[in-house]
Amino acid sequence: MSERFTFSLVRTDGTARTGEIRMPRGVIRTPAFMPVGTAATVKAMYPEQVKALGADVVLGNTYHLMLRPGAERVAALGGLHRFMNWPYPILTDSGGFQVMSLAQLRKIDETGVTFQSHLDGSTYELTPERSIEIQGLLGADIQMQLDECVRLPCSDEEAERAMRLSLRWAERCRVAFGEQPERAVFGIVQGGAVERLRVESARALVDMDLKGYAVGGLAVGEPQNVMLRMLDVVVPELPANKPRYLMGVGTPDDIVEAVRRGIDMFDCVMPTRAGRHGLAYTRFGKVNLRNAKHAEDPRPLDPDSGCVAANTYSRAYLHHLVKAGEILGMMLLTWNNLAYYQDLMAGLRKAIAEGRLDDFIAETKQGWARGED
Ligand code: GUN
Repeated sequence: MSERFTFSLVRTDGTARTGEIRMPRGVIRTPAFMPVGTAATVKAMYPEQVKALGADVVLGNTYHLMLRPGAERVAALGGLHRFMNWPYPILTDSGGFQVMSLAQLRKIDETGVTFQSHLDGSTYELTPERSIEIQGLLGADIQMQLDECVRLPCSDEEAERAMRLSLRWAERCRVAFGEQPERAVFGIVQGGAVERLRVESARALVDMDLKGYAVGGLAVGEPQNVMLRMLDVVVPELPANKPRYLMGVGTPDDIVEAVRRGIDMFDCVMPTRAGRHGLAYTRFGKVNLRNAKHAEDPRPLDPDSGCVAANTYSRAYLHHLVKAGEILGMMLLTWNNLAYYQDLMAGLRKAIAEGRLDDFIAETKQGWARGED
């Protein structure tokens, strides 16, 4: 039996919403946090563990997978879901953003972007059509348009040029994707920190009648109030009956504030990357396990967490593992951090369903501010 790609709202609380995105591979409960699985792995995690934490979807990257092992090879091996043993929904980013941050000798023009691999220097071209082809070969359930994301701050002219190019690429991606009722391609709102550009970008994308809309080009160096202001401007332009995805965000505080403003989906390397660098996210804020004050602390990170990494192992042991550069330290802290993020999303969904989001956010922030020592 095949199921069409659909989004349904379950409840709203102010501008915040909780809902469900359905597709043949499963249901994404929103607001959702997507763990980042750049190179066909959520680093330091078993896929079974990721699922058990409550993640309904993971993110993969066109840029990394096209370079290694190659999209055609993944397709020949049955697609990304089978390759990485993640049979649930996968969203792939289109590659443009990663080309800009990772590749060398980039050249961007109307056709697309030419770049040299950060792995071996060989030259590749990524056009909107090739990006959609690669995401199709990988078998991604949700695909992203190729876009150009500018770093902030930048001039209004630069933001406008990149936004208009991204719109033309969105239309080419829409055409290349064609009719695929079981999958979706999302457009990406750009426009830097310029309100009128953001509104124009959102309206033009909405006219293309895509199945979902992302807000890109944020959390790229601007203060949080600028990012939230852009959401205040963009979200009202987006249709209520389609999912909204804030790309590359963010800290727990960014996430709760964006959920409050009506965002449904997030992805960020923060919980996984921080976990590999000795940092734990907890209900009481961040804990830096490298700090010597943990060396003789027998307490777990959070005795009330449902995650074994958080409720069992002592801070002293985690400190030791991190200081010794042991792999298990990275595994336990990544596990703890993803558990914290997924618990936060579950709490947000429940609070919206019960019409008490503002109270939930206030209590959550009190926990972060209180700390514990
Ligand atoms: N990830 C974080 N921000 C962006 C963005 O603006 N575009 C794309 N494609 N990916 C992102």
